[in-house]
Amino acid sequence: MKILHVNTANDYDIRIEMGILDRCGEEIANVVRGRRCAVITDSTVRGLYADRVGQSLLRAGFTPCLCTFPAGERSKNLSTYGEILEFLAANQLTRTDCVVALGGGVAGDMAGFAAATYLRGIDYVQIPTTLLSQVDSSVGGKTAIDLSAGKNLAGAFYQPRLVLMDPGTLETLPERTFSDGMAEVIKYGCIQDREFFDFLAARPSREAVMGEIEHVLLTCCDCKRQVVEADERDFGQRMILNFGHTLGHAYELAGHYEAYTHGQAVAAGMVAAARIGAALGVTDPAAAEAIAALIRAFGLPEEIQCPAETMAEAVGLDKKGDGAEITLILLKRLGEAVPLRMGKDAVLAQFAALCGQ
Ligand code: NAD
Ligand code: GLY
Repeated sequence: MKILHVNTANDYDIRIEMGILDRCGEEIANVVRGRRCAVITDSTVRGLYADRVGQSLLRAGFTPCLCTFPAGERSKNLSTYGEILEFLAANQLTRTDCVVALGGGVAGDMAGFAAATYLRGIDYVQIPTTLLSQVDSSVGGKTAIDLSAGKNLAGAFYQPRLVLMDPGTLETLPERTFSDGMAEVIKYGCIQDREFFDFLAARPSREAVMGEIEHVLLTCCDCKRQVVEADERDFGQRMILNFGHTLGHAYELAGHYEAYTHGQAVAAGMVAAARIGAALGVTDPAAAEAIAALIRAFGLPEEIQCPAETMAEAVGLDKKGDGAEITLILLKRLGEAVPLRMGKDAVLAQFAALCGQ
């Protein structure tokens, strides 16, 4: 088993092991006091993994109950969140009991927010089952739901009590969902760890990555751990995790959140940010082409068309911006991110030049 300890205000372990799903009950019993727990999952993951989790919880002496919502981002809303809270109350969970988030980032974000707010906060455990949720969303304590006005607009910083990752769950992921996660995996190589970038470049396929999956998960989670420990509340350094995301949001908007997945948009956003960095003389020009090659190897797009007005809208809406300026995350070189304060107009001009607009 690989173990990382996250030293945030409420500290916790990340435990990575093939087959840990069947031992999750004993792991959870070591960190929570109560013996009632609510497993929150989606309609797809329920059929794949909820039985194994339920059986393990029973063996460890828990009384589990299972709450399922329809799979997909559209469920990450006030209505499902309300249903989860009502479910916790109907099943009489007390302050010593716990919530188990079983599934991808949607289950994790929403169950985490429910745990943060039910009875003013009860313990929760993350059991992420997508690559994205294993390398990103289950670590760091950001919980949220979407509002009509935008994604992740209501939420809380609320760290889990434990994160359990079974790399075996990744075997059932559709190709596109695996590739989405790879965009975030590649991101860590870009922003923090050149050696890891080269490691991935030498393993440019799902099969090769799965051959070393525990190392991949450990490396990504360790990168995220370092950033989150340095800036738990996202006032500074944590911003580097947004590499590729500002331009990525514009691509998601251009595709009306349907044409491109988040991972596809981030992938193209990273390439664009690296090319803009090169044009500004900040980024080693070879970095952009190396990122583009790795992105392509995992079936992700290196470019996405985006009208100038959509880019202007996305840059204007960026949560990390205030007034006329925005912090764009660029690279100095592979493995080293630099935040750069830029006028929004300058960002748009660079983007237009990149697209020949
Ligand atoms: P998701 O939870 O919707 O999962 C994607 C799809 O994969 C779903 O249909 C799900 O049912 C299915 N699935 C999950 N595990 C599976 C498995 N093992 N085998 C087969 N199918 C499986 O989406 P996601 O990509 O995991 O996460 C995206 C969400 O994460 C977004 O809402 C995003 O805002 C959030 N997010 C949060 C953070 C954070 O720090 N909290 C960071 C990044 C993203
Ligand atoms: N996924 C970005 C963050 O956790 O800050």
